[in-house]
Amino acid sequence: MNESIRSQFPSLRRKIGGRPCIYLDGPAGTQVPDKVIRSISNYYRRSNANTHGMFTSSIETDRLMEDTRSIVADFLGAEGGHTISFGQNMTTLNYSLSHAFGKIFQPGDEILITQLDHEANRGPWLSLREKGIRVREIRLLENGQLDYEDIAQKMNERTRLLCIGWASNILGTINDLYLARSLAYESGALLLVDAVHYAPHFPINVMQLGCDFLLCSAYKFYGPHVGILYSSPGLLDRLPTDRLRTTDQVAPFSIETGTLNHAAIAGVKSAIEFMASCGQGTTIKGQLKSSFEYIESHERSLAGQLYDGISAHQKCRILGPSFDVQQRAPTVSFLHEDLRATEVCQRLALQNIYAWDGHFYAVRAAEILGVQEKGGVTRMGISMYTSTDDVVQTLNALEDL
Ligand SMILES: Cc1ncc(COP(=O)(O)O)c(C=O)c1O
Repeated sequence: MNESIRSQFPSLRRKIGGRPCIYLDGPAGTQVPDKVIRSISNYYRRSNANTHGMFTSSIETDRLMEDTRSIVADFLGAEGGHTISFGQNMTTLNYSLSHAFGKIFQPGDEILITQLDHEANRGPWLSLREKGIRVREIRLLENGQLDYEDIAQKMNERTRLLCIGWASNILGTINDLYLARSLAYESGALLLVDAVHYAPHFPINVMQLGCDFLLCSAYKFYGPHVGILYSSPGLLDRLPTDRLRTTDQVAPFSIETGTLNHAAIAGVKSAIEFMASCGQGTTIKGQLKSSFEYIESHERSLAGQLYDGISAHQKCRILGPSFDVQQRAPTVSFLHEDLRATEVCQRLALQNIYAWDGHFYAVRAAEILGVQEKGGVTRMGISMYTSTDDVVQTLNALEDL
């Protein structure tokens, strides 16, 4: 299966200095398969137009938008396309939500964010402090897990919103969202989930989770740069989002400012079809279910090998949970005793191994864990196309550092 997946990614065939590249930078954006590239270019070749026109290319664009909302709804286990909005990226959509909430929350109302989250799920909410809204942080523990007692303690009748990531893009921690949801709902708060790092690796079912908002980003799951927002039915309609009077005033359109990137949205549809095509079944939902069984087991096995190899390295210390836990994102970050993360990544890059250095915008977590002043950590992520050979070569290269 891995070979057939790999054969669909043209960038995996690229050689630099006569050698192929090993892409462990998936958490910052995955590579893109032929199917996605083709559908973006076909959109421009055949159907390029604005929406709501009377002619073929515009009608095709309308249909594309509707079909993509619908397949994204299947991907997220949502009620239907009417719950799915698109935007430039996750950060922009989250800022739009925070502007809207800023208009209806009162001074003294409270929002809970976490110390583990990416800044994209902190900054937009912290900006509401200017309006007298109290933004409180849930503690990150040294073991890389959130302090759930702290959530319970900080939740009260003034809490309006709990903003929490599902998977950490720096540590690979999976947060217990079912617990977070019951704590939020007990005090009548809404639950907003950043699933950007979760979506490429695990199946999502927003109806089962019962969240109010969930955001993700297609360039993290083999697609182009498009942000995706799920809003539970009826909620977005009630939010005073920034919009023109000419914008459709109802969900899912009321948060979509201006003209969307239709070609990229064609790519989102194909990215989900690509992921589904790795599984069996007669419907997209069925295929996605089977595909995620493969993705989870393939990625967990390779990430486990990578984790064990790095842990055994005398000079490296991994941050975050081990693979003993039931669920963990296949993302491994570590500190090298003698080398800063930039140097580790530079040296790996000389061997065409692509890893990231720094805090990856999870800057609060990097500060809390004391790695920020050390130049951050080296992060390696496993994707569907990663092979056992990639992991073996990476561990050998680390040994040679
Ligand atoms: C966990 C997480 N949340 C949010 C974001 C921001 O997503 P976007 O680039 O779509 O704004 C990222 C991007 O790296 C991320 O990893």
